[in-house]
Amino acid sequence: MKYKKPKGTEDILSEETGKWQFIEETAYKIFRKYNFYEVRTPIFEHFEVFVRSVGETTDIVSKEMYDFYDKGNRHIALRPEGTAAFVRSYVEHKRYAPEYINPFKGYYIGPMFRYERPQSGRLRQFHQIGVEVIGSQNPMTDVETMAMALDFFESLGVTQLKLVINTLGNKSSRLHYIQALVDYFSSFKTQLSEDSQRRLKENPLRILDSKEEQDKEIVKNTPSIFEYLDEESTCFFEQIKRLLDQLDIVYIVDPTMVRGLDYYNHTVFEIMSLASGFGGILTTLCAGGRYDGLIYEFGGPEEKNVGFGFALGIERLLIAIEAEQNKMSLAMDIDIFVACLDKKNTSLAQKASQIARSFGLITEQNIEYRKLKSQLRIADRAHAKYVLIFGENEVKENNITVRKMQNGTEKRVAFEQLTDFFETITN
Ligand code: HAM
Repeated sequence: MKYKKPKGTEDILSEETGKWQFIEETAYKIFRKYNFYEVRTPIFEHFEVFVRSVGETTDIVSKEMYDFYDKGNRHIALRPEGTAAFVRSYVEHKRYAPEYINPFKGYYIGPMFRYERPQSGRLRQFHQIGVEVIGSQNPMTDVETMAMALDFFESLGVTQLKLVINTLGNKSSRLHYIQALVDYFSSFKTQLSEDSQRRLKENPLRILDSKEEQDKEIVKNTPSIFEYLDEESTCFFEQIKRLLDQLDIVYIVDPTMVRGLDYYNHTVFEIMSLASGFGGILTTLCAGGRYDGLIYEFGGPEEKNVGFGFALGIERLLIAIEAEQNKMSLAMDIDIFVACLDKKNTSLAQKASQIARSFGLITEQNIEYRKLKSQLRIADRAHAKYVLIFGENEVKENNITVRKMQNGTEKRVAFEQLTDFFETITN
């Protein structure tokens, strides 16, 4: 029987992993500049963690969760996103205690799981790079974190982007707005899609996000959130816009943008790719927002009950990078290829390889004892800089032929002098 990977998953093989590592290393580098540290939480959590945060009626929890009962009859879910686990771990480890730096700034990179209909840039196991800041109420945090996301994209050469922002206001503004939506949509109840009729009862904000044509028409004339913002919410959003302007960050405001997770309030944002790689559809590469209230929900203290973060999908990012035709400087090349032509010379060749590696040189040793010509071809394909040839004559004379692949020049180097040679090429 031949096995195939489960639907909606991907194998990431050696040519691809170079790109992934490059993206991850770029994230480490950029996030360090902003003084963020990595946090690693489990791949699975108690089901309740996501119900409490993402929301029971969201698609993610109600339709897309990979959940099961383990052998101890615990209800477990593979994480569909990273924020809930991050907050759970922040509270569990009391990172709000005075001995820790406030705000608590962390990031995570890893697989997430959602039972979605797979398509380009939409998988069942996908990977996110996520960032969270807990403990700051200052709008500067929102803006600095969005700026960091843009900085990250820019350093990967992804520039065909659109930053879209909106506000959902504070809790009381949001409740007023939800009531206005219920009033408005109720008069179109029978014209709404079946899903949206359900949302009207469970989560009216989500109707704004509907992809159904029949809903989109009705959504066009919905009351705007801006009519329902109280002074605090308006003032907060004005500050966000002013701070973005001050940093010359271009954005547009979309008052209908809501997010598919229930924990947001105040600022929400998306960074979309304008690149053609997604079949002409604007695709969200990165999304996030403020989640004041969530920390308390997990048992954290009220005075640290404020958070902001985002996550971006690595698979989508790769499509955008390709669409913008950016070449990532992938470290797939090797420094030294050791061509051993005869089994008898194996131990000497192996010794030379280990010495090369001790100089930090990326070294591949051929183990198939093929003819020189064929080995040179392999070395060329691996973009080797130098080939060390261990042939019969060389070994007899206790030296090695060193071939510089760039121009094909060769020289003999005595075995004892190999370290000098490695030293010159590493300096
Ligand atoms: P989200 O909007 O659900 O937010 O996901 C963020 C990003 O993850 C999306 O913009 C997309 O790039 C990627 N993504 C989501 N689902 C899939 C999928 N099925 N296949 C491929 N990529 C996908 C969150 O997850 C929030 N936790 C973000 C956040 C962090 N908010 C505050 N902090």
